[in-house]
Order: sequence, then C-alpha cells, then structure tokens
Amino acid sequence: MAEIDRSQVSYVFDGVSASVLPEFVVSTIRSFAATENLYRSAVREIATKLENLNDEFKYTKDRNPIHLITTRVKTPKSIMDKLLKRGLPLSVESARENLTDIAGIRVICPYVADIHLVAGLLVSQDDIELIRSTDYIADPKPNGYRSLHLIVSVPVFLSDRTERVTAEVQIRTIAMDFWASLEHELAYKLTDRGGQEVARELRACADVIAATDLRMQALHEASGRPDCNVDG
Ligand code: GTP
Ligand code: MG
Repeated sequence: MAEIDRSQVSYVFDGVSASVLPEFVVSTIRSFAATENLYRSAVREIATKLENLNDEFKYTKDRNPIHLITTRVKTPKSIMDKLLKRGLPLSVESARENLTDIAGIRVICPYVADIHLVAGLLVSQDDIELIRSTDYIADPKPNGYRSLHLIVSVPVFLSDRTERVTAEVQIRTIAMDFWASLEHELAYKLTDRGGQEVARELRACADVIAATDLRMQALHEASGRPDCNVDG
C-alpha cells in the first residue's frame, strides 16, 4: 500500500485507516488532492484580480464596485455526487472535463450596474478566457433567480508547467444575494404541501427586490458621483 500524506486529505481520511483502502482508492484520493490544490490556486488568482480592481476603483473613483468576494472549492464528495447525478465517469479527469464549477467565486456588488462593470473588467484581462456567460439578470430563471454567471479559465503556474483551470464566477447585487441565500434555504419546502404558494411568493419577492435594485441604482446615479455613468 502506497504511503499517503494524510494531512492533505484529512477531509476524506478522518477516522479511516489507509491500510483498509484499496490502492486505486488511495491513488484517486491523491489525484483529488492535487486537483483541489490547482482549483484553490485558480480561485486565489481570480479573487486577487478582483480585489486589485476594487482597490484601483477606490483610488480612482473613491468607491468600491465590489462589496464582498467569497470563494469555495467543491469538496471531493460534492464532485462525486454531481458526476454520479449526471451519469459521468467518476475520475479526476472526468471532473475536470465536465464540471465547470469546481472553483467558485461569488462577487457581491452594491449596484446592478456594477455587475457588468466588474464582469467586463475581469474578462478583459489578458490571461482570463471567457468560456461562457449566462445573464440571469437580463433573463431571470422562472423561480426569480438573478445573477450574472461567467465560466472562465485562468492559467495556474505550477513548478513544471502551466495549467488552464476553469472557474465559475457568480456576480450579483447585495439584494440578489439576499434572495438567493434565503431561496436556497427555503427551496426544500417547494416539495412540501403548499409548495406552489411558496414558489409564487419567492418569485414575487425576487421581482420586488429587482425593482428595488433599480431604484437604488437610480438614486446612485442621481447622486452625481463621477463613476455613476458606467460608460464614462
Ligand atoms: P448546477 O448543476 O447547479 O451547477 O447548474 P448549471 O450548471 O445548469 O448552472 P447554473 O448556472 O444554472 O447554476 C449554477 C449555480 O448558480 C448553482 O450551483 C447555484 O449556486 C446558483 N443558482 C442557480 N440557480 C439558482 C437558484 O434558482 N437559486 C439559487 N439560490 N441559486 C441558484
Ligand atoms: Mg454549474
């Protein structure tokens, strides 16, 4: 049995003796650990790019177009669950080829117009490749979900090679994030009795929130700050 560095994979190995695991499991876990590191690096790179843009904006426009950045890398369990659900092969290669959201970056902006501003600044950077953009703000999901989703790739520089790594960037306002967080929590109720009523109510709340976002944007523009005109 190959030796394994348990400190790297404690989330899988906690309470399990490596000696009881077949070799292929150990090698799969090792390749998951290496892959996880790659995705962590990608997330850090993208988050740093966004922080740099935000800092520059503060300096040039005296305002931050980003309120908050959060990141996460999917756990091996959640990667496996998603591959299983989609009937895809259970391997690191399959995960890298088929899943675009192993690395996730969520960007929360104060105003609606900041969303496309931040997205444009990010994807215009030389080493960021935009793979796909889904605008759930222009075209909200039937349940009311709004956000701009970007699937991008970024080069991660390793000691012996450079790898392009795919990541999902979700950009939304504080208000959209408020709705999405609570909807996520309430969604399980949709299967219960009265689910249709909950769904209707959630949709109505999403529409109120979207209208409020537009009113806040208008107030921001009326304040006459130099950065209000996103094109200017
Ligand atoms: P996934 O298999 O969930 O990744 O869906 P997808 O690949 O079709 O992508 P999509 O862009 O629809 O959703 C990706 C992610 O956006 C989800 O994992 C959630 O984080 C978020 N999201 C999408 N739809 C909703 C929604 O209706 N409610 C909430 N709260 N979040 C959503
Ligand atoms: Mg996805």
